[in-house]
Amino acid sequence: MGNADYHFNKTMTLPIERVLECEEALYRAAGMSKEDAYCVSQHLVEADARGVYSHGIQRSSLYFKRFEQGGTSVSAQPEIVKQFGATALVDGHNSMGMVAASYGMNVAIDLAKKFGTSAVSITGSNHFGTCAHYAEMAANSGMIGFCWTINAVNIMAPTGGTERMLGNNPYAISVPCATKPNVVMDMATSVVARGKIVMAKKTHSPIPDTWAKDVNGNPTTDPEAGYLGTVQPFAGYKGYCQTFMNMVLAAVLNGSYFGPQVIDLYEEPEKIQNSGHLMQCINIEAIDNLEAFKKRMDEVVDYIKNGRKADGVKEIFVPGEIEANNLKKAKAEGIVYPMEVIMENRALAEKYNVPEALRL
Ligand SMILES: NC(=O)c1ccc[n+]([C@@H]2O[C@H](COP(=O)([O-])OP(=O)(O)OC[C@H]3O[C@@H](n4cnc5c(N)ncnc54)[C@H](O)[C@@H]3O)[C@@H](O)[C@H]2O)c1
Repeated sequence: MGNADYHFNKTMTLPIERVLECEEALYRAAGMSKEDAYCVSQHLVEADARGVYSHGIQRSSLYFKRFEQGGTSVSAQPEIVKQFGATALVDGHNSMGMVAASYGMNVAIDLAKKFGTSAVSITGSNHFGTCAHYAEMAANSGMIGFCWTINAVNIMAPTGGTERMLGNNPYAISVPCATKPNVVMDMATSVVARGKIVMAKKTHSPIPDTWAKDVNGNPTTDPEAGYLGTVQPFAGYKGYCQTFMNMVLAAVLNGSYFGPQVIDLYEEPEKIQNSGHLMQCINIEAIDNLEAFKKRMDEVVDYIKNGRKADGVKEIFVPGEIEANNLKKAKAEGIVYPMEVIMENRALAEKYNVPEALRL
């Protein structure tokens, strides 16, 4: 997966720092504080650099539409509204998802430092990008990080149903290693994230017929038809069961919108999303010596990677490794962007009067 899911026509390669600088200027121009503009931009650019283009800067046009039409506040700040032992409830107050979720994961990390483990439930939030980012915040602090979110639009039918009743609610777990990148599993409960279908729609590329069904329930290779239809759950009914439980953990637990209350992030930019997330941490030091654990993780990674390979397979990957490789390459060579995303971003920068020198 990762880069292999994208087929770009004309491209432009840009250094990470340059994209970050331009994206920050764009969010500042929208009225965001310096700190929040950095938080959001860093998240989006990191997603692109990891090859997760579905959740990179291509989302900015959508986020700006929501700022303009009042769905998301550009300046609201999250706060802890309830705390009990190692748990907390955070109200995002309709702030950007990245702002509310980063705040929530930082609270979870602090609680786990004190109590050994933690659970922070976040409500009143918005679309927050990739789950991996938050789970990795914990891994980078010597913890095992868990992150759940409810998706921003109902796009999946329950097994046996035909209606869009559920999101492809993604979740992530990240674990630190001694000498290798964090192992991080981050996935939506559909065969692929719907953002990949959106990206294919933007770049006029066909999609595999296993990704989505059209409105009549037939598998389709047309991204437009797939966008209007339903995404297919991974592993059949198992993906449906997983998405059901992810919805409970992220949204039902704290009273965020779920089921019929869920708005369409793309089509209803004027409506409040009231999205929910859950962040959890296990402080590894509370169980065993951190360095000893990380060394065992290195052993596990080597063990798996050295397994016998199927015919034609050059390398076995562990979860998150492909994205970590993409990141390493992007740091050295820059991020390869499709021109459609660059042009969209430039138009946004022009509209918001971003100085020419800070446009992509
Ligand atoms: N905020 C939201 O509402 C929302 C909704 C859906 C998805 N997302 C995000 O979209 C992103 C993409 O999701 P996705 O489900 O399409 O991810 P994906 O299918 O690209 O990858 C899923 C996982 O599989 C691993 N993987 C992929 N190929 C592998 C291989 N050959 N060997 C070993 N591991 C491999 C990846 O490292 C990753 O951990 C995620 O970051 C997710 O959080 C967000």
